[in-house]
Amino acid sequence: MSTETTTKIKLKRSHYCGDIKESDVGKTIILAGWVDTIRDLGGIVFIELRDHSGRFQAVADPAKNKEVHKIFEKLHNEYVVIIKGIVTKRPQGTENLNLACGMLEIYPTDVELLNKSTPLPFMLDQAEEVDENLRLKYRFLDLRREKMQKNFITRHKVTHAIRSTLNGLGFFELETPILTKATPEGARDYLVPSRVQSGKFFALPQSPQLFKQLFMISGFPKYYQVARCFRDEDLRADRQPEFTQVDIEMSFIDIEDILFAVEEVLVSAFNAAEVMIQRPFPRMDYDKAMALYGSDKPDLRFGLEFIDLTDIMAKSEFKSFSDIAKNGGEVKCLCVSGISDYSRKEMDDLKALAMTKEYGAKGLAWITFKSDGSMGSPIVKFFKDEELNEIKKQASVKPGDTLLFIADKPSVVAQALGKLRLYLGEKLNLIDKNKHALTWLVNFPLFEYDPVEKRLNSVNHPFTSPKPDDMHYLDDEPLKAKAAAYDIIYNGVEIGGGSLRIHDTELQSKVFKILGLDEKTAKDKFGFLLDALSMGAPPHGGLALGLDRLVMLLTGSKSIRDVIAFPKTQTAACPLTDAPSDVTDRQLKELSIRVIESK
Ligand code: AMO
Ligand code: AMP
Repeated sequence: MSTETTTKIKLKRSHYCGDIKESDVGKTIILAGWVDTIRDLGGIVFIELRDHSGRFQAVADPAKNKEVHKIFEKLHNEYVVIIKGIVTKRPQGTENLNLACGMLEIYPTDVELLNKSTPLPFMLDQAEEVDENLRLKYRFLDLRREKMQKNFITRHKVTHAIRSTLNGLGFFELETPILTKATPEGARDYLVPSRVQSGKFFALPQSPQLFKQLFMISGFPKYYQVARCFRDEDLRADRQPEFTQVDIEMSFIDIEDILFAVEEVLVSAFNAAEVMIQRPFPRMDYDKAMALYGSDKPDLRFGLEFIDLTDIMAKSEFKSFSDIAKNGGEVKCLCVSGISDYSRKEMDDLKALAMTKEYGAKGLAWITFKSDGSMGSPIVKFFKDEELNEIKKQASVKPGDTLLFIADKPSVVAQALGKLRLYLGEKLNLIDKNKHALTWLVNFPLFEYDPVEKRLNSVNHPFTSPKPDDMHYLDDEPLKAKAAAYDIIYNGVEIGGGSLRIHDTELQSKVFKILGLDEKTAKDKFGFLLDALSMGAPPHGGLALGLDRLVMLLTGSKSIRDVIAFPKTQTAACPLTDAPSDVTDRQLKELSIRVIESK
C-alpha cells in the first residue's frame, strides 16, 4: 500500500454529506466519502465529497492550511477521504443551487487520504450512456451513482414497510429451503446436482408455494417470507431468473381476508416510496379485462377500450370480416382521435405492429371520419350506409376519429389490438403518468387449453381452488370453471398473484388428473403434498408480490435490473463475476456429470 494513504484512521465520520443544514454553521464536522469532482482554481482546490446522502463542498486554500492543501492537490476522482472542518456559509454568488447543501462548505483543518482509485472504466455521471454490460461488469461503481443509491434506499424502505405491516398484522416470517424439488410455476427449473446422491438433482424453488401450504397444515396461521425465487425463463425488462417475492399465506380465511391484508401491505409500501394511494382497490373480472383491453393486466391509466362490432360485421358483405365473425372469430376496433392526419407510412407502421409475427393479426383496417362528413378508408366501400351509421353509433364516433379494426380469433384480436392500444396510449400521450391505477383482476378461468401439447394447463398453478360454485364443471366442462384466484395489477404490470388453495386430497388428485398427470406421476411429484392434505389441512390461501417489479415501478425505473443490486443480463449471465462459468473436471467427476458440447 502507498505511504500516501492512511492506514491507521484517526478521524471518525460525524455527519453524512447530505444532512448538513444552515443551522450547522459554526459546527465542526467530519465527513467521509469519495471525491466526486475537483476544481483547481489557481491554487485554491475545491472538491465535492460524495456519500450515499449527497455531496458537500470542501475547499483547500494554501493561505489557510498548507498541509491540507498539499493533500488536496494530489486528490483525483473517486479517491476515498475523510475530512474535518467547520461549516461555513459560502460567499455570496458562489452557492450551488443544485446541491441540497450548496449554500455551505468547509475549509478542512484535517484530512486523511484513505485510499486511491485507478481511473474508472466509465465516468459515473455518464453511466446512462455506456453499454449496460459494462455497467454490470463494474456494478460496484454503477451502484455508487446517486440514482442507483436512491433506488436501493427506496427498496430498503419499501421492504421494511412491508415487513412492519405484516408483523403488525400477526404474520410470522418463516424460511423455506432453497435446495428443494421442482414446483411448477410454469417456467424451467434451475437444477443443482447432488454429489451425495449421484445422478439426482435438487431444483431451486420457482416459489415457496408448496412449503407455505405445508406451514398452514402445520398450524402457523399467517406466514410471510421475503423469498428469493428462481425461474429459467426468457428474460424481459420485467423478468429476472432470480427475483424476490413477498410471499404470503393464511389459513381459515376467505378471499376478502387475503385482499385486505395485501391492500394494507401495498398502502404501506407505496407510502414508503412517498406515493399515496386509496383503498379498497377496484376489482375487474378477467372476462371484462380481456373484452375491453385484450389483457389480463390492463393499464387502466387511460381508456381507449375495445369496441366489439362482431355482430354488425357478421351481417355485412365485407367477406374478410363477415367470414371471421360468422365462424367464432371477433371483429373489434379502437376509436382513436388525433391520428386522422396520419400519413400512409404512419398507418402502415400501425399495421406492421398489429401484424408482427408475435401478435399475428392478418391485417389492420381503418375508417377515418373526417370533419366534413367524408370518410377515408380502404374498406368503407364494403359497407352500406345503415351499417356505417350503426358502426358510428356503437363506437360513439366524433368527427376526426379513426376506427382501427382487427378481425381474427379472439386471442389474436386481444393481443394485436391490445398492443396497438398500449402503443397509441404512449404515442398520443393518453397515459396520465401521475396516476396510480391499482386493480384486482378476479374470476380467472381455472384451466386453459394448450393447443401445442393438446391438453389443459392451469392458468394459475395446479394448487389453486376452483370457485366453490364451479366445482360441478370439473367433470365434463373444466374450461368453464373459474378459479378462486386474483392478480394485483399496477399501471399495466402484474405485481402479484394468488389464490385460495385446494385443501382436499380428492379434489387435488382430480385437478392433477384433469391436467393430464397420471396417478403415479402425481404421487412421484407431489406425493408429500397429497399426504399432507390428507392429514388435517385447514382451508388456506395466499398471494405473492413481485418485490422487484413493485420497486421498479415505485422508483420510475425502466428495467427490473435497476432495482436488483447484482442482476443478470438478457442472456442470464453476470458480467461482474462471469457466472455461469466452467468448473473443473474434478468437480464434474464428483458429481458424476459429463458435459456434452453443444454444436
Ligand atoms: P406468480 O408466478 O404469479 O405466483 O409470481 C408472483 C409474482 O412474482 C413476480 N414474478 C417475477 N418477477 C420478476 N422476475 C420474474 N421472472 C418473475 N416471475 C414472477 C410477478 C408475479 O406477480 N406461488 C405463486 C403465488 C401464490 O399463488 O401465492 C406465484 O409464484 O410480479
Ligand atoms: P382485403 O379486401 O382482404 O384486401 O382487405 C381490405 C383491408 O382490410 C386491408 O386494409 C386489410 O389490411 C384489411 N384486413 C383484411 N383482413 C383483415 C383482418 N382480419 N383484420 C383487420 N383488417 C383486415
